Amino acid sequence: MAFRTDVINKQGYFISLEGGEGVGKSTQIRLLGADLKEKGFDIIETREPGGCPGGNAIRHLLLEGDIHRWTNATEALLFAAARSEHVTRVIRPALDKGQWVLCDRYIDSSLAYQGDASGIGEDNIRKLHYIGSQGLMPHRTLLLVLPNGEGVERAKIRDGNQGNRFEKRDLDYHKKVNEAFHKLALENPERFRIIDASGTAEMVHKRIMHSIDDLLS
Ligand SMILES: Nc1ncnc2c1ncn2[C@@H]1O[C@H](COP(=O)(O)OP(=O)(O)OP(=O)(O)O)[C@@H](O)[C@H]1O
Ligand SMILES: [Mg+2]
Repeated sequence: MAFRTDVINKQGYFISLEGGEGVGKSTQIRLLGADLKEKGFDIIETREPGGCPGGNAIRHLLLEGDIHRWTNATEALLFAAARSEHVTRVIRPALDKGQWVLCDRYIDSSLAYQGDASGIGEDNIRKLHYIGSQGLMPHRTLLLVLPNGEGVERAKIRDGNQGNRFEKRDLDYHKKVNEAFHKLALENPERFRIIDASGTAEMVHKRIMHSIDDLLS
């Protein structure tokens, strides 16, 4: 069997994109994935909650329905369960094959939303992550940042009144989420890069490529 010479044969990196509602994570994952593929890297794009059949089933439970559908604890457990499926069935196997994994939200979303804004506590979220996913962490986390409220506004324009259970939470909740993300980034500077998500999608993409420059060589 002939080896493909157009695929760069080196270790794959696990990169997560994080940030509040509507800051452009999904848009930027698509642009990043296309750019890396064009450069010859073997990548998969995935998202949380979801990324596999079990994860997608739990995604419906988490995003749909009444805002008070779950207790905060149940919600944290469901996210951890979805992530366990995703890591075991998709992320780890891809990394073992040497692929890059680009993931739209990961553990830092659970830390910021459930751990901090919903009051479950970061240590408890880390324990669930250890139980469910052996504590697997990304090599790099790109935190997309917009001023408070701007991302939610973008998401509202995108979704009309059909926002999910998280978009419907008030500005105070989203402010806490943004502050928690910022704190996580400052506490873990070797893993995080903070990306200004204002301007056009193309401008943000350029900033993202610059922030992973060191992984490409
Ligand atoms: N740089 C940008 N400038 C203006 N609008 C943008 C920009 N990037 C994305 N958008 C638009 O803003 C909306 C939210 O973007 P996107 O869906 O990528 O955000 P997200 O972070 O994935 O949101 P969510 O948290 O809901 O998954 C979309 O309608 C998208 O087309
Ligand atoms: Mg998205």
